[in-house]
Amino acid sequence: MAIHLEKQIESVIGHFKRGSRIVILTGAGISAESGIPTFRGKDGLWEKYDPNEVATAEALRLRPKNVWEMHDALRQTINSCEPNPAHFAIAELEKFLKNIVIITQNVDNKHQDAGSTSVLELHGNAWRVKCTVENKSWIDRTVPIKELPPRCSCGAILRPDVVFFGEQLDKDVLDEAYTEAARAEIMLVIGTSCVVTPAAYLPIIAKQSDAILIEINLEPSPIYSLFDASLCGKAGMIMPKLVKRLREKFE
Ligand code: OAD
Repeated sequence: MAIHLEKQIESVIGHFKRGSRIVILTGAGISAESGIPTFRGKDGLWEKYDPNEVATAEALRLRPKNVWEMHDALRQTINSCEPNPAHFAIAELEKFLKNIVIITQNVDNKHQDAGSTSVLELHGNAWRVKCTVENKSWIDRTVPIKELPPRCSCGAILRPDVVFFGEQLDKDVLDEAYTEAARAEIMLVIGTSCVVTPAAYLPIIAKQSDAILIEINLEPSPIYSLFDASLCGKAGMIMPKLVKRLREKFE
């Protein structure tokens, strides 16, 4: 590990106190090392797909098969990938520092698969499907889905229970995320480009409440000036080291 990063980790550890309220905001970058593509940048999903064609309510209404083909492909990728050391490090952190909430923009369930329990999913979950008429939702882990688009027993088309472009986030989940961000004493922002709102407001809210903000990303995000520390590198390399040092400090 570069000496610089090692020093940065040591100075970051200094901010943590026993009982600190910690919020961890994650994005697609935390799952990149699992093999799940991010959205932006080279090889990002939005390079391969036009979100207007596959991730809007209108696209689902006009071209449900297209929308489901993309989503089914994503579900197959997610199904074939395991949580990585960053997910496991966060799950371990939750075990020995109790005051932790994970707010994720990811729909891949990898935090829960790694053992995390306190997870707010801002953008839904790829394993949940929802009836477009009855609005009821349930988990369906079938991969691949046998017939696209899948239908509810009532005959209506199902949708993935994820947030499409132009849609509101679940109000209860978002309110809870805002509350947690405002109460945070430390916020770790991991693997997100911080360009999609309202998720990108959360570090701002935390900062306004005097939280210490720490970013872990391949490169500093556009809101880097907000952060007290930016640790540049792979989350799967940095998070286990950070958690190891926190365990040494608190156990
Ligand atoms: P992005 O694809 O916009 O950003 C991923 C970020 O992760 C980038 O800043 C990368 O530099 C960083 N990154 C990549 N690999 C990494 C690694 N191994 N370790 C650490 N960082 C890494 O993904 P999000 O910010 O999550 O919304 O995107 C936000 C939302 O935009 C998504 O939830 C999705 C998308 O449209 C919906 O679908 C509603």
